[in-house]
Amino acid sequence: MKFNILTIFPEIFNILNHGVISKAFEKNLSINCYDIRENAINKHGQIDGKPYGGGEGMLMMAQPLKETLSKISSKDRGHVIYLSPQGKKLSQESVINYSKMKSLTLVCGRYEGVDQRFIDKYVDEEISIGDFILSGGEYAAICLIDAIARNLPGTIGNEDSIKNDSFSNGLLKGPAYTRPETFEDIKVPDVLLSGNHSKINEWKTQKSLIQTYIRRPDLINELKLTKKQKKLLEEWTSKDIL
Ligand SMILES: C[S@@+](CC[C@H](N)C(=O)[O-])C[C@H]1O[C@@H](n2cnc3c(N)ncnc32)[C@H](O)[C@@H]1O
Repeated sequence: MKFNILTIFPEIFNILNHGVISKAFEKNLSINCYDIRENAINKHGQIDGKPYGGGEGMLMMAQPLKETLSKISSKDRGHVIYLSPQGKKLSQESVINYSKMKSLTLVCGRYEGVDQRFIDKYVDEEISIGDFILSGGEYAAICLIDAIARNLPGTIGNEDSIKNDSFSNGLLKGPAYTRPETFEDIKVPDVLLSGNHSKINEWKTQKSLIQTYIRRPDLINELKLTKKQKKLLEEWTSKDIL
């Protein structure tokens, strides 16, 4: 998969050279950064202007963005995304859909954002990574690339870990433990040491349901629980234990 990035800070993307995602670069991921500043409107490197009608800060101009985008052939652009707080909120479902695409072009805003005419003419979709404001679209683009790369074949050694990630079945994952068996007087739950795999799976499913019920009831409401899931959740709500 190929990512084309429009940014004024290409060096920020060096952060992706760490951990499992760096493996994806060896296999099936490439990133090409296009520096918007190279297409500035004057020799001073200007790419921004004051907003018409007043208002605080500066806006990225449409022309330098358009010229930067034109460096990528329309065949290589794929879907053009502007990372923006006004966009549709990113979800695991859309991450998986993007991971099936051959290329994506990500436009990273700065300052107070981007002239609307560039968005109207050249952007296919606006994506937000959450209801908060970042200082630049680069950080949102990195989140998006990381989330997509996880789903590309070969990035994660054990593909079951993706299948069992939170959100993959609409639920949050439950709690997990590693060595030692006792940490500051807190013991690992007995069932996890029992070696009984069907009991362990049942415990994990129940904890995942409980975690989601408590922390993200909105997710539970969106799901059609199976009979078994309903039973496990009811078992807990009737006992009122965690
Ligand atoms: C300081 S923000 C501009 C915010 C703008 N004044 C507003 O209120 O919508 C600069 C850039 O950061 C990026 N950005 C900020 N928050 C984001 C979010 N939640 N998701 C995606 N991109 C975001 C966008 O590219 C935006 O153009």
